[in-house]
Parts: sequence; structure tokens; C-alpha cells
Amino acid sequence: MKVKNYPVTRPFLPPLDDYKSQVDAIFASGWLTNEGSCVNALEEQLQSKLALPKVNLVSSGTIALHLAIRALNLSGEILTTAFSYIATTSSIHWSGCRPVFVDIESHGYNIDLEDLERKITPRTSAILATHCFGVPCDVAGIQRIAEHHGLKVIYDGAHAFGTLVNGQSVFHWGDVSTCSFHATKLFHSVEGGMVVARSAEVAERVRRLRNFGHNGEEKFSEFGTNGKNSELHAAMGLSVLPHVDEILEQRRMQAETYHEVLFKAPLRLPPVNNLTWNCAYFPIVFEDEQRCIAVKTELAERGILTRRYFYPSLNRIATDSPESCPRAESLSERILCLPMFHELTQKETVSIGRLIASLSSSSSFAQ
Ligand SMILES: Cc1ncc(COP(=O)(O)O)c(C=O)c1O
Repeated sequence: MKVKNYPVTRPFLPPLDDYKSQVDAIFASGWLTNEGSCVNALEEQLQSKLALPKVNLVSSGTIALHLAIRALNLSGEILTTAFSYIATTSSIHWSGCRPVFVDIESHGYNIDLEDLERKITPRTSAILATHCFGVPCDVAGIQRIAEHHGLKVIYDGAHAFGTLVNGQSVFHWGDVSTCSFHATKLFHSVEGGMVVARSAEVAERVRRLRNFGHNGEEKFSEFGTNGKNSELHAAMGLSVLPHVDEILEQRRMQAETYHEVLFKAPLRLPPVNNLTWNCAYFPIVFEDEQRCIAVKTELAERGILTRRYFYPSLNRIATDSPESCPRAESLSERILCLPMFHELTQKETVSIGRLIASLSSSSSFAQ
């Protein structure tokens, strides 16, 4: 294939004039941050787009998780997936709780319900699970377990913008759901994130906690943090949001194209036949780590960048947590996310897919 550089991801850039007109209005008002009109407008538009009761915009997906844990008053142990980005675990540590790692499903990427239930102890206060790559967790099963044992549920939905469960946004599930609006995400505001809480009380607490704990100009309800997002970030979100359906459609086209080209290769592919999945990423799973690394290296030499996402498994990073999670460990050694960004054409997706099909089937990598 013709050599051209393909990053694994590239931020979606809205028409510059759209962003400029938002910035013009910000300059005219002189209001740069502290719950200004762009932040308020983006919260309202997200509520209406995703049919959510209350959205609290925050400065990142990581801060969203910190605020969720604090707003729910969690302590002790939090059961969490061993297969996610480090922010899922680090936010538990930063909140003074202990992560207890749970393994993943045998044929998916998300937390395994049997292992989850087995690891509940009297010290467990909550479950923090990730909708990996935007594929939803077994939310009904998790809710059943949580209700039975009196646990809170937080979903790290950093990847899950546009994912549906029973026709509704997946952010409806859990006591709290979070999302990341980082520049590489399907919907973004350069940096940013949101917290969606089931109860109005928890949502109100998040709103205060993100603003130092202010409860009025001269009153504080508790010690909070600075988790606010700025008008300039919200302006980017307002400029990207009108394009989000087009972004989702393009992602689905890319995922279906990769699937078509790769389905005969000796790889495990993501569930494109699940039409409620947002196709945020295209992870492929090899039979072994050696082949995974060999294909990654070959692709990089041809200018096609892939990412070992997530590697290593989180239980191997947090060495003070002794749980072994063999499925998560094995998956993290064998997984690669393929290039996926808005401008990637169908033709380019086919070419990259064909090259991967031939490299992953090639006997020259055999042990
Ligand atoms: C699963 C997951 N959770 C949380 C985060 C953190 O989001 P942010 O970069 O907005 O802090 C990320 C970032 O990539 C992520 O992939």
C-alpha cells in the first residue's frame, strides 16, 4: 500500500468559523470561566441530545471520576475492572479508597459478573466499571448485584458517547456515569468531561464539589476541588456537537469496513453487529503477544500507527492490590486498536485492513 502516515487517532475539528464565532461572543462578554453561558449552553444541549436529566460539565473524564466517588461518599474497597485506562484505577486511589480488581468476561472487554460477585466483602462500598471501547457493560446484571448487596455503581463511560441500552443513552445507568471529552474522543471539547447522576441530590453535590464546595458566594458546604471547565473548552464542545451524528455514522462505516476485510483473519473482532454500540474504537485481538507486537512493528514501519490499549492490565500496575485477573492480563498483551478518526476514508480503511489481514495470517511470524 502507498505509504502515508496514519495516526491511531486524530481530533475532529469543526469548521473554524463556527469556533471563531463562539470565541467572538466570549471576547465580547469578557467571561472566560466559572459557569458561563457556553458551559451552561453545552450542558443544556447535552441533556437534550442524550435525553439526560442533569449534566454537570467538568474539566476532564478523570476529574469526573474523582467527583463521582466523592459525591457518593465512598470509602473502603471499590470493585473495579482490571481492563481499562489507568484513570479508572487512579481515581479510586486518589479518593483514598482501595481498588479491588475484577477480571473481565471471557469473550468481551468488560467486567465479569461472576468474579465481581465473588469479590464482594463487608468492606466493599461500590462497583466502578468501564464500558470499554464504548461496548456497554451488562448494566442490568450489575444493577441486580448492586441492589442485592447494597452497593453503589459508577460507570466510567469515557468511551461511551452515543452508546445505547434499550434505546436510551447508556449514561442513564448507574448511580453516576461519567464521560471524557478529551480531544481524541468521539465527541470532545479539547479537554473536558461530564458527570451524570441518577439522583438530583448527588448531581447538586457534584455541582458544588466541582466549584470548591461553594454554596453561594460566601458559603461552602464542604471542601471541594476545581473541576470547572472553561468557556473556550465549552465553545469547542458547542462547535463539535452538531456534527456528532455524522461522526458516529463515519465510525460505524469504518468499523463495518474493518470487520468485512478482517473477519477471516485469525483475530477476535469487536461486535459490529451490535447496532447500539457507538464503534468508538476498533480493537483487534491476536492469538498471542508475539504476533501482536510483530504486526504493530510492521505497521509502524509503514507509517500506520496502532495502540496497545489498554496495556498493561491495571492489576499489574497497582502492585499493592494482589488480585490476579488472568483474562484481563492475557487480553491486554494481545490487543491493538486500529487507526480510527473522522477523515479516514472507506478506501483507506480497506487498505489498512487488508494489510493487517495479510500480516496477521503470515506464517513468517509463527513461533
Ligand atoms: C476508560 C477511560 N477512563 C478515563 C479516562 C480519562 O479521561 P480524561 O483524559 O478526559 O481525563 C480515559 C482517557 O482516555 C479513558 O480511556
